Amino acid sequence: MKRLSDIQRLKKQGVKIACLTAYDAGFSALLDACGVDVILVGDSLGMVVQGHHSTVPVTLDDMIYHAQMVRRGAPKAWVVADLPFMTCATLEQGLLAAQSLMQQAQVQMVKIEGGHAIVPLVAALAQQGVPVCAHLGLLPQQSLRLGYQTAGKTEADADRLFEEALALEAAGASMLVLECVVPSVSERISRALSIPTIGIGSGVNTDGQVLVLTDVLGLTPNAPSFAPSFLVEGRDLKGAVDAYVSAVKAAQFPTMDNV
Ligand code: KIV
Repeated sequence: MKRLSDIQRLKKQGVKIACLTAYDAGFSALLDACGVDVILVGDSLGMVVQGHHSTVPVTLDDMIYHAQMVRRGAPKAWVVADLPFMTCATLEQGLLAAQSLMQQAQVQMVKIEGGHAIVPLVAALAQQGVPVCAHLGLLPQQSLRLGYQTAGKTEADADRLFEEALALEAAGASMLVLECVVPSVSERISRALSIPTIGIGSGVNTDGQVLVLTDVLGLTPNAPSFAPSFLVEGRDLKGAVDAYVSAVKAAQFPTMDNV
């Protein structure tokens, strides 16, 4: 089973980190066999598995159920699971939600969306020994309020993201997802932090990449431009995941067409 130090070493060595989402044991076993470093049990399961229009309806019990399956299927990968909508509304709620995910599903890390607002929770979790992945940029759990927008387009917003990334690392975050962040901004953040950054729709100069598995497998109608199918290139499911991992490791994904 991978350790956090294995993932952190990849950044130090300049080796790109390949991450994909999974929601069940069958696909997590496939990802594990293909050498995916980090498997994210994303609350994107609300759209991908449950057929909702956003991640908002996903509950903590849903996350635990899917994370248990993913963990069983993937003995090697570092497994991260999202704390879903409104489970971090208070510090106590966030701590209990993380405890449930870690103890009932045995994931190794929890992911939390937000910037300065989640700094106290990140610090409290880190103090208890919980590895935390923070998530900045486009925040799907805030989509009803903020929509789906690229982050960091203005100088002020770029500076805000940079300051939040530094604050999250200082609070004890061990990884940072950057979703739909202007590539020059995600590069600046990735260079400044010592923890690994994992980009999605944020350019090639982050320490790793993540995509939603169904996008990679060509199953999503109208998938975003930053999430191409690898199925044609790979010819079958294993080939598609292999092609994704190889492209990430070689820094050949994303190209200018996929940001
Ligand atoms: O829920 C999810 O799948 C995510 C990724 C898109 C980063 O948060």
